[in-house]
Amino acid sequence: MIKVAILGYGTVGSGVYNVLHSNGRLVTDRAGQEIEVKYVLDLRDFPGDPVEKVLTHEFEDIINDDEVKIVVEVMGGLHPAFEFTKRCLEEGKNVCTSNKELVAENGLELMSIARENDVNYFFEASCGGGIPIIRALNDCLTADDIDEITGILNGTTNFILTEMTENPGVSFSKVLKQAQENGYAERDPSADIDAHDPARKIAILSSIVFGSSVDYKDIYTEGIRQITAEDIRYASTLGYAVKLLAEAKRTEDGVRAYVAPFLVEPSHPLYAINGVMNAVYVHGNMLGDAVFTGAGAGSLPTASAVVADVIDAARHDGKRAYCGWKHDEKLVLASNDSVKRKYLVRIYTEDEGKANKVFSPDGFLDTISVGELEDEIAFITPELSEEEFSDKVKSFGNVISRIRFY
Ligand code: HSE
Repeated sequence: MIKVAILGYGTVGSGVYNVLHSNGRLVTDRAGQEIEVKYVLDLRDFPGDPVEKVLTHEFEDIINDDEVKIVVEVMGGLHPAFEFTKRCLEEGKNVCTSNKELVAENGLELMSIARENDVNYFFEASCGGGIPIIRALNDCLTADDIDEITGILNGTTNFILTEMTENPGVSFSKVLKQAQENGYAERDPSADIDAHDPARKIAILSSIVFGSSVDYKDIYTEGIRQITAEDIRYASTLGYAVKLLAEAKRTEDGVRAYVAPFLVEPSHPLYAINGVMNAVYVHGNMLGDAVFTGAGAGSLPTASAVVADVIDAARHDGKRAYCGWKHDEKLVLASNDSVKRKYLVRIYTEDEGKANKVFSPDGFLDTISVGELEDEIAFITPELSEEEFSDKVKSFGNVISRIRFY
């Protein structure tokens, strides 16, 4: 039998407790031994909840108990999650987490402490919720040289963009409010809608794929606050979907990364990923394309990934598991300035002549009109580098909005 402690009895922590009890027999079979929750740490009390019998308010109860071999850290945030994780690893306890903030910020340091103490630090649930993507990269796609990983890695923003597409004319702020009321968005939604959350997740995934630490703060990150009902109308008129993509790609100049809303064509596998679902597209030199899709958030899907880590930790008792993210040096990302793409640009109708001169090499752009939007038109640029496009926008001066084509 192996004893486990859970740090935090919130959405994910209660899910982990639930999965370990509901699927107890399966978990025992797959772990090769019984897994028992000995402690759940939380500052709060839960009168009447079965968790009461294992609830503690004292982290010291856990750290001082040699029987506890696996600690599940699902508190979220950096502090005290970092200090608790560090102490657990130093005491020779395996740690499994869903805490993407902590993994993106201190993952390599914590893995190196785990290595020094012959234990494992697992974080499958930190990216894509219940989708098994980290284990797929570390254990399954090991024969491949992976050159691209692109995902829809945030359920909240995918839900908002899907609602705006399915209900033409509805504003971003109205959908956000609905999402908050339905529990799909946090009261402070900025980590999601300003895309820091998917930036952290693509930083973790690309650190595994490319071997060295990608700092999420180095990634060009644009959220979806500025996406309007009108942008969505143009996208739908063209038959495209607006998706918040998190992309990391190896190019001749090095690894490039982006997190931004993109226009995605119907033939792309990420086009059809709707609502709170997440998906990750991977390209390998032998495999070609693969797409992993599933529930990217929520109590039980996230807990499913955490408990899979607990089972893996039990299977690896006394042994180290492989992780592709292992080099100490930081991966310096290549500049995005020379990345070429087409753009959808919205302008006022009266500026069409100027747009032809600035954006089209032969002085003639095909324009797109949407019935209800009388004062404006849109056009698709030729392929332009980020730098060329931004110079043209500056010289043009009066762009209503622009979205990149993927
Ligand atoms: N806020 C995150 C999302 C939760 O919407 O995807 C899962 O990491």
